[in-house]
Amino acid sequence: MEIEAKTVLLTGATGGLGRAMALRLAAGGARVIVSGRSQAALAELADELPGSGHSVAVADLGRADGALQLAAEVGTVDCLVANAALPATGRLTELSGEQVARMLRVNLESPILLTQALLPGMLESGRGKVVLIGSLAGKAGSPRSSVYNATKFGLRGFAFGLSGDLVGTGVGVSVVAPGFVRDAGMFADSGAKAPAVLGTATPADVADAVMKAIAGEKMEITVAPVKGRAIAHIALASPSLSHRIQAGAAGQKTAEIVAEGQADKR
Ligand SMILES: NC(=O)c1ccc[n+]([C@@H]2O[C@H](COP(=O)([O-])OP(=O)(O)OC[C@H]3O[C@@H](n4cnc5c(N)ncnc54)[C@H](OP(=O)(O)O)[C@@H]3O)[C@@H](O)[C@H]2O)c1
Repeated sequence: MEIEAKTVLLTGATGGLGRAMALRLAAGGARVIVSGRSQAALAELADELPGSGHSVAVADLGRADGALQLAAEVGTVDCLVANAALPATGRLTELSGEQVARMLRVNLESPILLTQALLPGMLESGRGKVVLIGSLAGKAGSPRSSVYNATKFGLRGFAFGLSGDLVGTGVGVSVVAPGFVRDAGMFADSGAKAPAVLGTATPADVADAVMKAIAGEKMEITVAPVKGRAIAHIALASPSLSHRIQAGAAGQKTAEIVAEGQADKR
């Protein structure tokens, strides 16, 4: 889909990667509806965006009615970029039931409900795009990430299943799956260092992948250095091998540092 003059709902717009996406989408000529929980942060972001016609939609996607209220507020859009998420890290036994429910709702249920609510408008116009922001955590399980893994594996399954229903409609669905992202976002905010073997990407790389997903027909775009992509594919093919590598002291330590650094976002 050509992005120029299209209306895009971007959730998680105030986050490290969301900001980069908002700027790229606006620079491409889209009218961006930036969404998140903070009116002030969203208004500031919308003012910074190049182009015109941008707007703000405040929504708490951790609430049971959050996704449907947001969809009702924005009405018809050409494109949904479902980017909002919680890091959802920590040992399962350390998380409260309420935290787990919120993580599942923000990361998995909300993207599905938003897609379901916005899809009819796209189908009626015969064009549209849904971009779901996944993760390499949707291909490889890691210590302290069971709930995050569940949501990101779930998003991939949702996208790949849905794409079969959209054949011939002019509407597409893609997953953009970043690995570790430096400089901004939930991993950078944790203060942890990415394992050197996997490498990192930038928020701008992720924003470029979102633009590519909208413009093209790829079902999944992975955003990581080639070694990180290869290792994630091996983990997908052999979960046991991936588990043996990550179960060691180094893997446990890295996972613990990341989870501790993200504990304030539960
Ligand atoms: N950073 C990475 O290394 C990395 C790697 C792989 C995948 N990803 C994925 O990339 C996406 C963006 O992550 P990020 O790194 O930019 O994270 P981030 O900086 O923590 O931003 C998260 C965004 O989600 C929004 N959000 C959180 N809880 C919400 C709620 N209850 N209702 C509505 N919005 C809510 C936040 O908005 P407010 O707090 O302002 O409401 C914020 O805009 C996520 O899907 C993440 O899983 C990130």
